[in-house]
Amino acid sequence: MVDVILGLQWGDEGKGKIVDYFAPQYDIIARFQGGPNAGHTLYVEGKKTVLHQIPSGIFHQNTINLIGNGVVLDPVTLKRECDTVASFGIDVKKNLFISERTNIIVPTHRALDKASELAKGESKIGSTLKGIGPAYMDKTGRNAIRVGDLLDESFTTNYIKLRLKHQKLLDNFHFIEDISAWEEEFFEALEFLRTLNIVNGEYFINNHISQGKKVLAEGAQGTMLDIDFGTFPFVTSSNTISAGVCTGLGVAPQKINQVLGVTKAYCTRVGSGPFPTELDDATGEELRKIGSEFGATTGRPRRCGWIDLVALKYTCIINGVTQVVMTKADVLDSFEELNVCTAYKVNGELTQEVPYQMSKVKIEPIYKGYKGWNTDTTKITDAASLPANMSTYIEFINQYINTPVKYVSNGPGREQIVPL
Ligand code: GDP
Ligand code: IMO
Ligand code: MG
Repeated sequence: MVDVILGLQWGDEGKGKIVDYFAPQYDIIARFQGGPNAGHTLYVEGKKTVLHQIPSGIFHQNTINLIGNGVVLDPVTLKRECDTVASFGIDVKKNLFISERTNIIVPTHRALDKASELAKGESKIGSTLKGIGPAYMDKTGRNAIRVGDLLDESFTTNYIKLRLKHQKLLDNFHFIEDISAWEEEFFEALEFLRTLNIVNGEYFINNHISQGKKVLAEGAQGTMLDIDFGTFPFVTSSNTISAGVCTGLGVAPQKINQVLGVTKAYCTRVGSGPFPTELDDATGEELRKIGSEFGATTGRPRRCGWIDLVALKYTCIINGVTQVVMTKADVLDSFEELNVCTAYKVNGELTQEVPYQMSKVKIEPIYKGYKGWNTDTTKITDAASLPANMSTYIEFINQYINTPVKYVSNGPGREQIVPL
């Protein structure tokens, strides 16, 4: 069977930490979408490390890690990540596998990303500029080159054709950038990629499932950044939701068992776009400071605000979430008062639904206030020791989203998690 861990907000919910925590219970950890726009932070032997494309099970010696067909893969970033992982004594050649159907991010995808954002001006998406949008456009436009093509003798010819196509688009944008250094790195990284385990991902994973092996699918980004159900157009270019597991790995829907949704105890967003509960004040600044809310991929300050239960209930429904993991609860330890958003006022009318065009309507969040717990929770290891005010806060969330919070994460460390 396949279980899933994915984000229920706008990304950076702490998915990497949670996957790393659960990884020992699984045989395979698989990424099914996204690319180097993701930044998943893990603490290994007390040392911080950030993974972008390699699944977060890589630090467990006996776990197989699969990069699925739904991912867009940047070979340059991958090579760097592999070097980092190797410095922890992990042999990626042994436990990293890549689907031959995985699409490759080429240097001109990154240039196109930049050109597109520049052309958008004020209405830019706030992309990580890793080439994600252009790479997925080439996938759906049926132009992409894929990892399996690396073994084909026409690879370089196809690459040149694609590059020429991209050059025309860049000319249309009047965008000039010397990509020769990127290209040199890219070709070096391709040589490295050729030495890794390239497999037929769909048979690889289904054969393991048939043998009774347990798979954990690791989401990137968050549901509110999903291309279909997120705050379009301020989204990423893939399906970040549980349905993306089927198309991004080649597993059938009935194989999916538990869907663990990860949410922060508050909310953040990086990049542009609607964020109803955003706090543009000292409280928002406090959340950013205490929560160290700076992007793991770009270092940009994350926008911070209260937890949004309207959006959270929506993302639980879309994903069929069976259990919720609440991270960064400790960040709220010193707050006297907390707020949870229970409804939106849209054009003067109250609603508990996420509107179609979140970016075009004015949303006023309606809050319910809670007393903070004013306790250092970071060393708590059992549910009974959690402060009563935290339990009340969680109980209300359970009721509202109609899905149980089953774990509370109370610090970035591997051991800082309390099963409820
Ligand atoms: P991801 O992209 O969903 O994997 O999340 P990121 O790694 O981008 O951001 C989450 C950040 O919060 C990282 O710096 C983690 O080390 C940190 N983190 C995760 N869980 C907790 C927690 O429970 N408490 C605190 N204080 N930090 C956490
Ligand atoms: P993880 O996996 C937070 C955001 C970008 C931008 C939008 C589109 O670490 O949670 P893209 O680069 O995909 O064109 O950017 O999506 N974004 C993320 N925000 N966490 C991420 O990944 C993100 N990946 C993309 O900031 O607003
Ligand atoms: Mg992240």
